[in-house]
Amino acid sequence: MADREGAALMSNGDRAGAHHTAIASSYTGRASAGADCDIDPRRFRDLLGRFATGVVAVTGYDPATGRPAGLAANSFTSVSLDPPLVGFCVAHTSSSWPLLRRSPGLAVSILGADQEHVCRRLAAKGGDKFAGLETGWSPLGTPIVAGALAWLDCRVEAEHSAGDHAIVVARVRRLTPGDATGADPAPLVFYRGTYGGFLPPA
Ligand SMILES: Cc1cc2nc3c(=O)[nH]c(=O)nc-3n(C[C@H](O)[C@H](O)[C@H](O)COP(=O)(O)O)c2cc1C
Repeated sequence: MADREGAALMSNGDRAGAHHTAIASSYTGRASAGADCDIDPRRFRDLLGRFATGVVAVTGYDPATGRPAGLAANSFTSVSLDPPLVGFCVAHTSSSWPLLRRSPGLAVSILGADQEHVCRRLAAKGGDKFAGLETGWSPLGTPIVAGALAWLDCRVEAEHSAGDHAIVVARVRRLTPGDATGADPAPLVFYRGTYGGFLPPA
């Protein structure tokens, strides 16, 4: 995984790629090479980039200061329907996660195709990520990103360390349809380091 200085020089695409690289090096890469595998981290990263994902904003606030905190994540996934659980992976190098994990609630905002700027902003390291960002409050009082496709009010249920990431499992407490405009708003799609939308078959 790139160090913080290195990460600061990365594009957002690189940063998300580095997230995959982190997985590559922690599980199978040469840095921790097992005798039975020798996978080139860059090749692994390029290959994983072929897995198209959506992007979410994970937001909350630091109870000590009341200031909002957040990050962009494409590792988000559903985990369980009953009980309702979702999950995402966070790099141990994240400076926002230590604040977010203390938040009384976490909100997941599912980003729309027109919210690439939100993703870029929340992926930036340092600075005020929320300056100029249109936000609101979830029903349970957690900061959310306005204009998202949907919001999930969550609470951290479990955190498992896995290499240089944490696998976070969160219990969903409230579902709210988003306020994205349009009858059938498109999701933000992340694929091979670039952003796009989703075109339903004609
Ligand atoms: C498209 C995209 C997806 C990302 N997905 C993740 C992710 O799943 N997990 C993660 O730890 N970081 C992910 N990142 C990086 C974080 O959003 C953020 O850059 C990182 O946490 C550093 O910021 P922080 O120090 O404020 O936490 C992603 C970045 C981008 C641009």
